[in-house]
Amino acid sequence: MTSLIEQAAQRLEQLKQAGVDVGLATAAAPAVTPTPTSTSAAPATVVPIPAPAVIRSPGDVSSKRVELDLDALAAQGFLTPNAPRTVMADQYRNIKRPLIRNAMNKGASTLNHANLIMVTSALPGEGKSFTSLNLAMSIAAEFDNTVMLVDADVARPSMLRMLGLPPGPGLLDVLEKEADMASVLLKTNVDKLTLLPSGRPHSRATELLASDAMSALLDDMAKRYPDRIIIFDSPPLLLTTESRVLATHMGQVVIVVQAERTPQSAVQQAVAAIEHCPLKMLLLNQASNKRSSGYGYGYGYGYGYGYGYGQADGQGDAQPGADRA
Ligand SMILES: Nc1ncnc2c1ncn2[C@@H]1O[C@H](COP(=O)(O)OP(=O)(O)O)[C@@H](O)[C@H]1O
Ligand SMILES: [Mg+2]
Repeated sequence: MTSLIEQAAQRLEQLKQAGVDVGLATAAAPAVTPTPTSTSAAPATVVPIPAPAVIRSPGDVSSKRVELDLDALAAQGFLTPNAPRTVMADQYRNIKRPLIRNAMNKGASTLNHANLIMVTSALPGEGKSFTSLNLAMSIAAEFDNTVMLVDADVARPSMLRMLGLPPGPGLLDVLEKEADMASVLLKTNVDKLTLLPSGRPHSRATELLASDAMSALLDDMAKRYPDRIIIFDSPPLLLTTESRVLATHMGQVVIVVQAERTPQSAVQQAVAAIEHCPLKMLLLNQASNKRSSGYGYGYGYGYGYGYGYGQADGQGDAQPGADRA
């Protein structure tokens, strides 16, 4: 049986020939390996689109504005604008480049919803949220692109907490037609970064995420602002089904793999679960210094993640994202 890596290499070649920018990230950690799907796989999924929910520009007066504490975020190891050049910033530069080129359809002419980028993983605790925020910050630093970060891990949302912001309405409220998009979007003091929180906890959250209303919303989001890159911090693939449904609407999927933690079989299953997605990239996240309780990061949240995975390993004291020696 050919290994996942060999298959990826073969398909990489096929994708290159099809004009897709697969990038060449050489950073030690995190690193990106594109894993294109089989070219014989299912054609683009066709979803019946009911009337789209109303989306207004985040520039609308009704959008709220929040102040991110950039110093606190930087102290926790997140990328922030104007932060000095670091190894991690360089790594994210390598990661974002092919994503942006594909999103702008400069690399690939064939991707539908190319500007919708899903960040997922096989299992909880692999660094999806960490990666999503850093990618969003990194893309927000680009001259040409605006970016929206969506907390689509509706069962276990973390974006607002991670950013030190209070809970508030968001995606689920829009899907429930209890709020319109403009009223839940949060503009930030990072000029090009807009946030879409997951919204109020909802008993049918996962059903809503996989609903036709969500498909319609995604289609509208993708088309309304083609120069905006939308990053979805998403549920893990192996524990949920809605993540797979979500993936069918995304132009690009980044699969975060926690170095030396995620079993290879889990990665294979995760990739297989979204076989139909046109462009998948594996991102090796060497979160060797993670502290799951937030201990030492300056946030007081000892918030258990509840999935029973990702026990803090407490190793080392280097910067988050720093290479394992
Ligand atoms: N590269 C990294 N360096 C340092 N800490 C990391 C890194 N990746 C993830 N973490 C930390 O690990 C924990 C779990 O990551 P998180 O992004 O919340 O996982 P997920 O969203 O996949 O469940 C968080 O405390 C996060 O800050
Ligand atoms: Mg998360």
